[in-house]
Amino acid sequence: MRIERPIIALDFPDRNETVQFLSEFPKDESLFVKIGMELYYSEGTDMVREIKAMGHDVFLDLKCHDIPHTVESAMKVLGKIGVDLTTLHASGGSEMMAAAKSGMLDGSNGKQTARLLAITQLTSTNQQMVEEEQLVSVPLKESVLNYARLAKKSGMDGVVCSAQEARIIAAETGKNFLRVTPGIRLAGGASGDQKRVMTPDEAARNQSSAIVVGRAITQAKDRVKTYQTVKKLWEDAK
Ligand code: C5P
Repeated sequence: MRIERPIIALDFPDRNETVQFLSEFPKDESLFVKIGMELYYSEGTDMVREIKAMGHDVFLDLKCHDIPHTVESAMKVLGKIGVDLTTLHASGGSEMMAAAKSGMLDGSNGKQTARLLAITQLTSTNQQMVEEEQLVSVPLKESVLNYARLAKKSGMDGVVCSAQEARIIAAETGKNFLRVTPGIRLAGGASGDQKRVMTPDEAARNQSSAIVVGRAITQAKDRVKTYQTVKKLWEDAK
């Protein structure tokens, strides 16, 4: 399974900047956008509804991580809003993930439910942090793989991982289990806080099912043109 359009991370502080950005694109261009914590905490569900009403698909990336009951209730609310993709941390455990799914089904009430993605290890995490801060003694790749297996067993639709791990996850969990990969940069672009980065075409060749691109597009001089460049690199490298 492959999501054809690159997912644009709308990491903006408020509605004004978001609407300005979206208005730069041709009116009939349907985008797949990601609303993260910053925009959601600032503008809430109205922003999600407004963007959906513009005809875009929405990935609501709130990275839920709490006790199963709380996550189940939160997912019930998200099910009612009707987003296309959403996230939770695999480290919350199998019980939490299963509860999330049940909440999502419950809230969607017969409507199409959002696909649930589990965060494995953030793309800003590196091997040293895994060892020294998380006290995880296996290599980072093994930790990512472990979370991917757990997520699949718990009924998730896929994981968020770095493109560097997409191939090994595909081999282990099968093609239909989504591997959504942030940490995407154009060749020569600054990696910023991201540690495990790849270009759009490298990600496609490494069996990523969808790429998430934020600053490489939103901080570019010509944002629409940069989006088209990313899209072409991604599509051509199938
Ligand atoms: O600007 P950049 O392309 O690095 O943005 C990546 C986006 O993907 C951000 O919104 C970030 O929150 C999100 N993300 C990530 N790593 C994960 C999960 C989500 O970078 N593991």
